[in-house]
Amino acid sequence: MNKIPLPVFSLLLLLLTRLPLTAQTQVVPAGNVNSVSISGQQVKIKTTNAFAEVTVYSPSIIRVRMDKRPLPADFSYAVTAKPLPVKAQITQNNSEINIVTDSLKMRIQKAPFAVSFFSPSGDVISEDEAGLGTSWIGDEVTTYKKMQENERFIGLGEKTGNLDRKGEGYTNWNSDVFGYAANRDPIYATIPFYIGIHHQQNYGIFFDNSYQSDFNFGASNNRFSSFGARGGEMNYYFIYHPQMADIIRSYTSLTGRMPMPPLWSLGYQQNRYSYYPDTEVYRIAQTLREKKIPADGITLDIHYMDAYKLFTWNKDRFPDPAQLTGRLKDMGFRVTVIVDPGIKVEEGYHAYENGKKENIFIKYNDGQNYTGQVWPGWCHFPDFTSEKGRSWWKSQVKSYIRDGVSGIWNDMNEIATWGQKMPNNVIFDYEGHPTTHLQAHNIYGLQMVRASYEGTREALQKRPFLLTRAAYSGSQRYSAIWTGDNRAEEDHMLLGVRLLNSLGVSGFPFAGMDVGGFTGNPSVGLYTRWMQIGAFIPYFRNHTGVNTKSAEPWAFGEEALEITRNYVNLRYHMLPYLYSTMYAASRTGMPVMRTLALQNTFDPQVYDTRFQNQYQFGDAYMIAPFESTKDFGSIYFPKGKWYNLYTDAVTTGGQDIITPLNIKTLPVYVKESSIVPMQSLVQSTREKPADTLFLHLYKGSQPNTFVYYEDDGESFSYEKGDFYERAITYDPAQQTLTLQRPKGSYGSQFHHIKLILHGFDSKQRITVNGSATTVSAGPFSFLSPISRFDPQGSFIPAESCPVQVATFANSNELLNVGL
Ligand code: GLC
Repeated sequence: MNKIPLPVFSLLLLLLTRLPLTAQTQVVPAGNVNSVSISGQQVKIKTTNAFAEVTVYSPSIIRVRMDKRPLPADFSYAVTAKPLPVKAQITQNNSEINIVTDSLKMRIQKAPFAVSFFSPSGDVISEDEAGLGTSWIGDEVTTYKKMQENERFIGLGEKTGNLDRKGEGYTNWNSDVFGYAANRDPIYATIPFYIGIHHQQNYGIFFDNSYQSDFNFGASNNRFSSFGARGGEMNYYFIYHPQMADIIRSYTSLTGRMPMPPLWSLGYQQNRYSYYPDTEVYRIAQTLREKKIPADGITLDIHYMDAYKLFTWNKDRFPDPAQLTGRLKDMGFRVTVIVDPGIKVEEGYHAYENGKKENIFIKYNDGQNYTGQVWPGWCHFPDFTSEKGRSWWKSQVKSYIRDGVSGIWNDMNEIATWGQKMPNNVIFDYEGHPTTHLQAHNIYGLQMVRASYEGTREALQKRPFLLTRAAYSGSQRYSAIWTGDNRAEEDHMLLGVRLLNSLGVSGFPFAGMDVGGFTGNPSVGLYTRWMQIGAFIPYFRNHTGVNTKSAEPWAFGEEALEITRNYVNLRYHMLPYLYSTMYAASRTGMPVMRTLALQNTFDPQVYDTRFQNQYQFGDAYMIAPFESTKDFGSIYFPKGKWYNLYTDAVTTGGQDIITPLNIKTLPVYVKESSIVPMQSLVQSTREKPADTLFLHLYKGSQPNTFVYYEDDGESFSYEKGDFYERAITYDPAQQTLTLQRPKGSYGSQFHHIKLILHGFDSKQRITVNGSATTVSAGPFSFLSPISRFDPQGSFIPAESCPVQVATFANSNELLNVGL
């Protein structure tokens, strides 16, 4: 290397040291508190370098806002809640400000500004890292929290990696990641909410900032966990409850909960990229019926359109869309169509002409419409952050409803464009406060599904089904989500389970993945195992990419077909249980897929990477998903007693057990004391099940209540009280099962109850409101026998449970069953 002559070097040095320190070279801390003003539930603070506002939202939620500038008017696309009137005591002295509610204490140290949160009994839950606190580097703002001893982190929505995120860092920037690697970050969605766990305490932090954000859970450092963004305010909600389920309830009280989905969307959905022409769609529908694979939905991917132009149909492939959707509806199938935000720039194309006329596209700062390339070629993109843009979209999307479509699948809404580099000088209206791509990027998908939901709901006057790829916190108010372009690989199947579990604890209960894998071709074993797991995920859709082999259940041979059918059948039997669980999710935010950490938060085993994929499906079932290639698997049983779903063999919890695996059955266990309502087999939700409700009860030592729920499955009249909600309580000490009087004005479709007792001593009778009812004993199978495929064509009998069964009338009276 050539040496720099000394005089030149000295001059350079002089110049460098004389340059004014630019903002990016300094870390600007909040500094000391200079002034404090307390008013009701809020404290306004001025520090040396910042303005802060601390607001009590509920006894368990406190919000912290900070900026270097005076805080502007409050605005959020995610949070719909206002602070509840709360009894909060706010006091100050020379060194600190103290906020005390019934459930939480907060201390704000004045010099320097630093916050700490405590439980009511004074245990530290979370505290700013001394010396770091909140600071800025240019426009980038970050809050640093002390890393507590043995702290764990879960959540952040759709994020790859392990259940316990300790030691990792993550970025939120919604990205189109075709065939993403199993450790890719970021992927499609931004849910900046996580749960920290340490010392038998857990808390939630929701960082509501839509700029590119970064979370650090001890990655490359041993000092702190942090969250920050490249712009905007420090703006976070601190949530504390002893139980994780309550943290999720509070988080969803801020950002909203999913509306009840249409019942049909919980049935099996068949898809590929793409089924066309219409005769091919009929062939798929007909084959599902002929092969007796129950199904409710067929999804049309981009080839239904004319040259990928939104709001058009390719008339050669789909000459009469209304006739197609009508005929499919008669066969028990609903149609969901894909929509992408890009509107093709083409003279004469009505959506383009009309959008241009209405001036609803996003623009560069010089006023020219932004043009980016995606499926149709060069496109403009609606501005979903303006009322005008959304109402334009709403009126367009209604055309699908007129054609009999029931579901809208919102894709490419990150925004995805070829090149994956949308310029930052594109301006978004942001409800009349124009901002750049930097702030609007992560919420674009949220605003798109908002418009799609509102438009289809208005047109349908029934519950629409919405699916989205990109999301921000709050998207659960409008849409289900799926995890995008995964790969047909074993580790992707298990990653998918973790993604859905993580979405669950992050307020997004209605979620799915491309079962079978999007890119590549699954082996027979992988496909079969994935379809088994699919029966136990909220949105159950089989999808595959454009150049892959057929991936319908019959494309993998007879054995795979029989096994798949067994599990899709089981899914349809489970619909009363699943629908009730979805109802609970819509009321409380409680997820349907539940990482074991949700109910066993302080049990270190559930975070062990050997067991981290295990999850509960609703309250009763625990699924242990394994690669299809494994002959043995180690399964962890949390505390309590667990029944093998297929045989009723009981395992005591608190241990892990090496279990032989086979491709015919997915390891599923039932928690003791569970109550699981089921129905007879139907081929779609359009078909009425027999009018007997199968009520499975698993003997246990813990009291348990299941809230059973029914409504018409499609309208909004449940919002006006037209539902049937009935608490069913099992009391082992009293040896009773009580069905309370139902709430709501809807009548149950089941007039009889078949009580199926698992694990009870053999008995001749039970009593129903004091009258003896005969009990019969017999084997009960959840699956059908599988063909042996030997020359004799014999069957492998299905495993069965030794149960006892009693049948009685289902009346609206209180039913007290003596066991
Ligand atoms: C995107 C979607 C995928 C879809 C494809 C074609 O890659 O993620 O599901 O099939 O686009 O529309």
